[in-house]
Amino acid sequence: MIIAIDGPAASGKGTLAKRLAAHYGYRHLDTGAIYRAVAHALISRGADLGDEAAAVAAARGLDPQTLDDPALKSHQVGTAASVVSAYPEVREVLLNFQRQFAADPPGAVLDGRDIGTVICPNADVKIFVVADPEVRARRRTLEAQARGEAADEAAILADILARDERDRSRAVAPLKPAEDAYLLDNSHLDIEGGVRAAIDIIEAVRAGRREV
Ligand code: DC
Repeated sequence: MIIAIDGPAASGKGTLAKRLAAHYGYRHLDTGAIYRAVAHALISRGADLGDEAAAVAAARGLDPQTLDDPALKSHQVGTAASVVSAYPEVREVLLNFQRQFAADPPGAVLDGRDIGTVICPNADVKIFVVADPEVRARRRTLEAQARGEAADEAAILADILARDERDRSRAVAPLKPAEDAYLLDNSHLDIEGGVRAAIDIIEAVRAGRREV
C-alpha cells in the first residue's frame, strides 16, 4: 500500500507520516528532506540559490544516506528548499527516486507537496494535512527552541506564509490537494489525535467504506 501525505510547511505532515509508517510497518520518505539536501548542498558550497544549473547538479548528486542530517531541519534550509524545488529540472531529476521508493515492498508512506498529485497519483490513500498558519508558526517556533535555535515567531509566520505562496504558485507540481485526497485539519489536534484521525481515514478506505 502507498500512503500519500501532502500539505503546507509545518503542517505536521512529517510527524504524522512517520507515525503512520511505524503503525503499518511501512517505510517512510520525507520528500522535503530531498529538496532540503539540494538546497543545503548549494548553501555549503557558497553557490547562489538562483543558479539553476548548480541546483540540478546537486540534485543529480543527491546521496539518500544524507537525508537524516540534522542540518537539513533548519528554517533557513527549508526556505532555500522552497526556492530550488521550483526548478522543473530539479524535480524531474528527483522523480524516479521517489517513485521507486514508493513502489518497493512492503509499502510506503511519503510526505511532501506533490505526492498525491504527481509522484504517486495512484496512491491507495491520499491525505492532505492543513492547519492554521498561526498554529504552524507556533509549532515551528517551539521546535526551533527545542533545538536550541533562537526563534522569532512573527518572522517564522511571515516566512511560512511566503513559503506556502511560493509552493502553491509555482508552475510545476504546485502544492494543492489531489482531487481524491481527504482533508485532515489538525489545527486543534495533538499528535495522537492527528494519528488517530489519519488511521480512521486509512482503515475506512481499506474497508471500502469511504468515498471522496
Ligand atoms: O516539507 P518541508 O518543509 O521539508 O519542505 C521544504 C520545501 O521543499 C518546501 O517548501 C517545498 C519543497 N518540497 C517540494 O517542492 N515538494 C515536496 N514533495 C516536498 C517539499
